[in-house]
Order: sequence, then structure tokens, then C-alpha cells
Amino acid sequence: MKINKICCIGAGYVGGPTMAVIAKMNPNIQVTIVDINQERIDAWNDDDVSKLPVYEPGLPEIVKETRGKNLHFSTEIDKAIDEAEMVFISVNTPTKTYGKGKGMAADLKYVELCARNIADVAKTDKIVVEKSTLPVRTAHAIKSILDNIGGEVKFDILSNPEFLAEGTAIQDLLKPDRVLIGGESKEAIEALASIYGSWVPQDQILRTNVWSSELSKLTANAFLAQRISSINAISELCEHTEANVSEVARAIGMDSRIGPKFLNASIGFGGSCFQKDILNLVYIARSYGLNEVADYWEQVIILNDHQKRRFSDKLITTLYNTVSGKKIAMLGWAFKKDTNDTRESAAIYVADHLLSEQASIAVYDPKVPKAKVYADLNYLNTRLEKENEELVEVFNNPYEAIKDAHAIAIMTEWDEFKSYDWNKIYNLMKKPAFIFDGRRLLDKNSIEKIGFKYFTIGQ
Ligand code: UDX
Repeated sequence: MKINKICCIGAGYVGGPTMAVIAKMNPNIQVTIVDINQERIDAWNDDDVSKLPVYEPGLPEIVKETRGKNLHFSTEIDKAIDEAEMVFISVNTPTKTYGKGKGMAADLKYVELCARNIADVAKTDKIVVEKSTLPVRTAHAIKSILDNIGGEVKFDILSNPEFLAEGTAIQDLLKPDRVLIGGESKEAIEALASIYGSWVPQDQILRTNVWSSELSKLTANAFLAQRISSINAISELCEHTEANVSEVARAIGMDSRIGPKFLNASIGFGGSCFQKDILNLVYIARSYGLNEVADYWEQVIILNDHQKRRFSDKLITTLYNTVSGKKIAMLGWAFKKDTNDTRESAAIYVADHLLSEQASIAVYDPKVPKAKVYADLNYLNTRLEKENEELVEVFNNPYEAIKDAHAIAIMTEWDEFKSYDWNKIYNLMKKPAFIFDGRRLLDKNSIEKIGFKYFTIGQ
């Protein structure tokens, strides 16, 4: 089956970059990304590509090259679905905030709405590709909706999980370790494989059944997050002994069975995937009565929450057991560097804890806008929005954020933080000047030489 037109529902962190790369590598395929959010579509269509709604190195160049030729952004969802032979569902599947499975299960509301939308509009056969991370057996549910309201039209469902990491999305897409396609229909699988085949070698395109594909995505994220929780657990032990977590990580990482990646001790992992996917895995395991399996994976989350909590506890006890009325400057709000995404960022939870201790917080992040910081805190519902506004200030300039602060908390590993004038910063701060480095970013010796009281994870 030859695909000439693709529609992708959802213009977010996955849909945007993925479709941009598919369009770049397949100039003969017309790709349309649709979204109900007019503002977001307008931003994708902005002449100034530095204003794209997703900040991702390398993305503006590709959008510039393909947009208007074979990459289009639109709010005309029905039209795009109708014309396409292949429809990607790339909408968000947040953790449920209500009802059964609250705080654990994935909310499939948006996915179901997409399926119903496709069923209502489709007049010709379609291949429907689930790109959103979904619990195992969701493809089954999508198929049932499509078959029951889609009339005469034939639908093939594929699971094609995305493994890109934010901040390196374009590189990850251009040179993926593997592409995974799960499905029943061989023809549909090969149609998608040939699209990726224009730049990914065939032996790196794995074909599996739908459920293996769905479960592999949850498992990959669970394993990655587990590595971080494992090294973070060791980081606490290092702080109580004379060991240094970087040295331990290096020593174990050189064992080829363990490998060197993803062993950076940190303030705790954030992002839209790890926590959500593990909670999903835990929920599914429990729903099958597999309590030991559920408990095993849940511990990864428990350790991660502990890591964030003990960081803010350490800050408070070091500041003579009180941060009330003290200015704490937070460098970084994004969940990692090179992204403007803040979902589940450790910074939000650390700030919330410090605010409950009546600290006043000054935030600086190179890419996160002011409104996002307030929205993240308000979403937690810990205190009135008015109180968040009074206690939190967001700055466009790091030195202003730091001026008169009692302590700096480094929350994100942005490269630019390393090149700041730390002598100048020392002079701007209240004394003793404390730095709590949640990312092991600065060089302890040179920072202490300036006069700072420096605390870092795992040392
Ligand atoms: C992750 C997966 O890597 C990706 O394959 C999947 O598709 C989506 O989820 P992402 O959330 O974008 O990607 O970022 P990732 O680089 O995996 O980092 C997740 C979090 O872990 C970040 O907060 C990061 O700072 C933290 N992290 C990562 C560590 O604390 N230590 C590490 O060694 C690595």
C-alpha cells in the first residue's frame, strides 16, 4: 500500500518533531499536523521559526525547509483525516486526575475522542497509528471503536511508540536505535516500515505484535527510570560515606553489561513519560492481581519522590532550619536542559515544598516563560494562586534572580549556568552564600574557592 498523505492528530512535543522529520525524509508524502488548539497551530505557522511552540535544537531548520511544501499545520481536523491514508494519533495521555485509577491510570479520553473523530469522518480505508504512549491493549479498544462506528471502512491499527527524548529529538529521530512497529496486518506494517525505510536501515525496524509493542514502550521507560532511581539511591549513601557518586557511576558504567549512560545522579527524573508510564505499568500489574510486580516498579517512583524531598529538606536544614522570608534563587525550571517542557519537573516540587516553608522563590530559566511557572505551581493546588504570585518571582536575567538571595538551587543542567560569572554572583548574594547543586553541574573546588558553601548530590 502506497501512502501519499499522512495526517497527525496532536501538534505537541512528539507529533511536531516526528512529522517534521518524516516530511523531510519523504518529500513525496504530504504530511498535515492538526490540533484543536488554534494558538498552537498559529505558532507552528509563524514566519519566525524561533517562535515554534516546541523548543528543540535543529527543529526550526527542518520546519523552515518543509513547511508549506509537504508539511502543513492546520486546525481543519476532519479534512486532514478524510484525505489521509494513514492517521497518527499523537495526543497526550496524562495520568487520570479523577475517578477510578486516579493518580495512576492513563486518561484515554483524548485518544478515544480521536478514534471517534476518525470513525465519523473516514470514507476510505485507513491505517491508524498509535504514537501516544498507551497502556497495553489500547489498540484493541481503538479498533473496537473504529469498527463499531466506522461503517464499511476498513481500519488497520498499528502501535508505533516514539523513543525520542526531548532536547535531542531531532538527532534521535534521524538516527534512532530502533523503530518499533506492532500490528496485525502485514501490509499495514510494511506501509509504515517503508516510510521509516527512507532513512532507517531495515534491520533496525522491528516488527512485533501490537501488545509487545505497547508493552515495550512502557518497559523501556521503566528500565531507564529505574537506572536513575538506582544511582540516586546510591547518591544518598555516598553523602553519608566518603564515596563520590560520579566515581561510582564511572566505575560501574565501564562494565559493558551495565553501560555508562543514564547514570547521572540528580534531583530526580521529571518529564512527561517516566512517572506516567511507570504508574501505568503499576496500575496494569495491580489490575491483574500482580502485587509483587506492581510494588517492584512502584519503588522507582517512591525513590524519585524521596530524592526531590530530601534535596529541599537538606536546603532547609542547612539554612539554619528556616527559609521563611528568605530569597531562594532557582536556576532552571525545565525538567532537563534544551527543552521548554516543564512537565513533572523536579523544580516544581522542590519550589512547592520551599513555599510551604514560606520561602520566597526567584526563578530563572532560559526557555520557560513566566506564565508557565505560575501555571505549574497553581496546578498543584497547594495554596491560593494569589499566594503563589506573592511568593514567586520569575526573572529574565539570572543575576537579577540571584541578587540578595540566601541560596541558589540548581534545578536544570543548562550549559549556560556553567559559564556564569560566579565571582560576581557571590558578591550579589547574602552571606554565607549557599549553592545546592541538584545537577552536579559546577566544579566543587573552584566554587568553594570563591567562598560559596556548596552542596551537591552524592558527594
Ligand atoms: C524519555 C525517554 O528517554 C524517551 O525514550 C521516551 O520516548 C520519553 O521519555 P525524556 O523524558 O524526553 O525522554 O528525557 P530523558 O532524557 O529520558 O530524561 C528524563 C529525566 O531523567 C530528566 O528529568 C533528566 O534530567 C533525568 N535524568 C536522565 C537523570 O536524572 N539522570 C540521567 O542519567 C538521565
